[in-house]
Amino acid sequence: MYAAITGWGKCLPPAILSNDDLATFLDTSDEWITSRTGMKERRISHVDVSELGYVAAARALAAAGKQPEDVELIVFGSTTFDELCPNGASNIQRLLGAENAACMDLNTACTSGMYSLTVATSMIKSGVVKSAIIIGAEVISKVMDWSNRDVAVLFGDGAAALYLEASTTAEGVLAESLGCFGEARDILSLQGWGMKYADKKRILGDVQWAFVGQEIFKKAVNGMTKASQQTLEKSDLQPEDIDLVVPHQANLRIIDTLTKKLKMPNDKVFINIERYGNMSAATALVALVEAVEEGYVKPGNLLLMPAFGGGLTLSAHLVKWGERTQPVAQSAVELPENTKTGLEMVNALR
Ligand code: UT7
Repeated sequence: MYAAITGWGKCLPPAILSNDDLATFLDTSDEWITSRTGMKERRISHVDVSELGYVAAARALAAAGKQPEDVELIVFGSTTFDELCPNGASNIQRLLGAENAACMDLNTACTSGMYSLTVATSMIKSGVVKSAIIIGAEVISKVMDWSNRDVAVLFGDGAAALYLEASTTAEGVLAESLGCFGEARDILSLQGWGMKYADKKRILGDVQWAFVGQEIFKKAVNGMTKASQQTLEKSDLQPEDIDLVVPHQANLRIIDTLTKKLKMPNDKVFINIERYGNMSAATALVALVEAVEEGYVKPGNLLLMPAFGGGLTLSAHLVKWGERTQPVAQSAVELPENTKTGLEMVNALR
């Protein structure tokens, strides 16, 4: 049994925050951000993360040509859930009307979307469910320390979702390698976000980011290289067998170093970091959806998807795309209208 990916959808909030916008309140510049990270702009959400996830999920469901009652499992990957109890997946179930779905949240920071893909694929392969929607979504802007240029320039908001269904054809995730550098967990942490920081009067303090950029950079390259090599070995494949690398997009220089180590040519790597920055759990899934929408993914292609995030978690998935690269239908679901600019919203958050 396999878990074919038969639907895909994304939801990017419309408000854009450019590098020049950031330079209006931080000691930074478009030149620094572009040359050090490859990022030009990112999105700022005017809605909660479950709503971004819901719209992406509705689009994935339509793309698969399925109805809400067909969904047997929702796995919602994020670091920025609206609430911890009830969970975020239950809100997506309610908004979709997917009343037959089991619902779980999953947090492995930036790799949450990819770990969710493993969980749902494994539950389909083992026969627990026959279908699933997985979602990677974040509203990082609300937990961002907007006074800290080390991190404020790097992240953005967004969501993407995939519909998976049981199949006897060898497609979907064929192999993966997951891991975690737990001993280094403190070099990327959101201090203030979680029960450790709670007192009786207030659950959340001001969130401070601990972020040792250069160490994370090195560990991201080593972790994704290791996971990718293990995945290729497990599948008995060579780098040249891969049609397209669709990596987590945290820094263009991380991607360049990784793909050089893997001996993958640049024209086999999908990049969209300039448009969205790092959307954590949403990043790799938005990249996959856009690679399909923009025609980079062809029927039967083999994709390698390395990812890295807080924890420090790491993953690399080998995905075989199916025969269909066009959606069965389009969803009519849209986000509510937004009247504010990205800069106006960020100024209200700082
Ligand atoms: O999803 C996983 C999580 N994230 C990552 O994987 C990110 C990993 N790390 C990185 O991508 C990079 O380390 C950064 C983009 C965070 C930083 O790039 P870097 O080339 O490692 O820069 P640096 O930390 O060595 O800083 C170079 C200079 C410093 O100034 P001095 O000491 O040379 O005078 C910094 O103070 O750049 C300065 N700097 C900035 N300047 C303008 C740091 N941040 C900024 C900024 N704007 N935003």
